[in-house]
Amino acid sequence: MSNGLLKAWLIGIALWLAAVVAFAVYSVETSRQRLGDELATVGRTLHRLISQRAAQHDAHMTSLIALADDTEPARLDATRQVMESVARFYPRIAWLALVSLDDKAGQGATAAPPGNHAVRTMIEVPAGGGDDLAPLRDAIEGQQRGKVEAYVGRNGRYLLAKRAQAPSDAALVIAIDARHLLEPEEQPRWAHLTLTLDAQTLVDLPADETAGGAPPLLAPLRFLSTIDSASQKISLSLERAMPTDQLLPVRPLIGFAAMAGLASFALMFALRQRAAVQKSQRSTEEAEARALLQERQALLAHASRVNAMGELASGIAHELTQPLTAMLSRSQAAVRLAGADTPDIGLIREALEVNVREAKRAGEMLKRMRDYASNRAPVPVPSAINDIVAEIAALTGADLQRRGIELKLDMASETLKADVDAIEMEQVLHNLIRNAADALESAETARPQIAIETRADGQEIRIVVRDNGPGIAAQAFPKLFQPFFTTKADGMGLGLSLCATLIERVDGRIEAENAPDGGACFTITLPRTRKREPS
Ligand SMILES: Nc1ncnc2c1ncn2[C@@H]1O[C@H](COP(=O)(O)OP(=O)(O)OP(=O)(O)O)[C@@H](O)[C@H]1O
Ligand SMILES: [Mg+2]
Repeated sequence: MSNGLLKAWLIGIALWLAAVVAFAVYSVETSRQRLGDELATVGRTLHRLISQRAAQHDAHMTSLIALADDTEPARLDATRQVMESVARFYPRIAWLALVSLDDKAGQGATAAPPGNHAVRTMIEVPAGGGDDLAPLRDAIEGQQRGKVEAYVGRNGRYLLAKRAQAPSDAALVIAIDARHLLEPEEQPRWAHLTLTLDAQTLVDLPADETAGGAPPLLAPLRFLSTIDSASQKISLSLERAMPTDQLLPVRPLIGFAAMAGLASFALMFALRQRAAVQKSQRSTEEAEARALLQERQALLAHASRVNAMGELASGIAHELTQPLTAMLSRSQAAVRLAGADTPDIGLIREALEVNVREAKRAGEMLKRMRDYASNRAPVPVPSAINDIVAEIAALTGADLQRRGIELKLDMASETLKADVDAIEMEQVLHNLIRNAADALESAETARPQIAIETRADGQEIRIVVRDNGPGIAAQAFPKLFQPFFTTKADGMGLGLSLCATLIERVDGRIEAENAPDGGACFTITLPRTRKREPS
């Protein structure tokens, strides 16, 4: 797997994971909110119901004590009847009693030690079902008349007691079964419900186990409130566990993970496609730019060759004039010989054979010129370097000779081949020869000389062009291969920069130095053509 592909996959997986985690967090948060809202709603409802029922108890207390305040037996009977109907209608009221706190006056009352007085019961509904009031007697007697007080009883009951107005010794007590304060259908199965009075538990109903099986993900939610009643300060507590399966439902999570996976994959695929398109666009643009640059360089090289041909033309013309003149006089002599009475065929043939050789040489020179000035796309192929040097020497030889400059060749004995375009290599050498000739002429060097040497150096070929001129000026060195750098009045400064471009294009390099004994020395290094393995 490529680095780019691996990176794209990793980004895709990271995106997917981030989306799934975000969904899980969102899901947990919204579920928690929903469960919390539900708990608060139910808690408020229960609070209201219990408060209403506590108010009902207060109302019963008020009406019954008012009725029982009088000690007339008829009133007592009426009070009993009301008590009975209250007990019937309200199952949570476990028991009602009208008691007398005056144990001395009571019939059947026994003298009791302090703190353990007997309580004389006047009415008890249902009969015999009441709680033992003896321990509460002192507390009830100490109550403010007309005020309802609550006491925790046994088995989840609490007692409400109210003393009648003076001078009566009566007190009304009702026992309320806190377990029936709420109807079964009103109790939430999913919450742990507790009711407490004076820090003592009246009701403790754990949540239904089946409501949530998985271990909890978050701490339980709580609803706490105290009932709005002056007499019954009951605390209501609801505790709701936060099971994982309710906070983070598995099916939607899997569904979302699958969708997010598809979306991430599609996004990754689209991004890769776009990157691939951009990359191919870029490489197309680069290839186009490279082609354009090469085209321009080829144009420049051609223009430079055509320009240089002008300089060579007079030398070449001179080179051609001599053989042509010799061929003419030899042909005229042959014509004369042919017109004799006994023509000397041997001499005529000899003259014609020399003419053929000379004509071929002239033809080769013209072909060389035509090839050099041709405008065709460069093709680097394995080329013999010595042949290239010989070609350019032949092309420039006449011009150099005319200018009185000696051209010395020192060629490697073996055939050295490099992957180059022969015409472009000739052009490089021609530029170096022209520069050397210009330097020699401008310095008016005595015995001016240009030497070209070819040699092998391991897997490389070196072509060295040196002259015995003034050498390269020290300040010229840094800019030598930059375009438009020239020290000549009529120079363009393009020769060496073109050389560098053409040489670098075939993976070679060109360096300049001054020889210790004077004169400039340019060294071209080219990689040798690799020998093909026999297949
Ligand atoms: N053999 C040399 N001896 C001394 N100086 C040289 C030699 N060859 C090049 N130079 C210096 O390098 C400069 C740049 O050469 P380059 O061939 O790039 O441009 P040019 O010859 O000035 O102009 P153009 O080649 O475009 O006609 C020359 O102007 C010259 O100062
Ligand atoms: Mg030049």
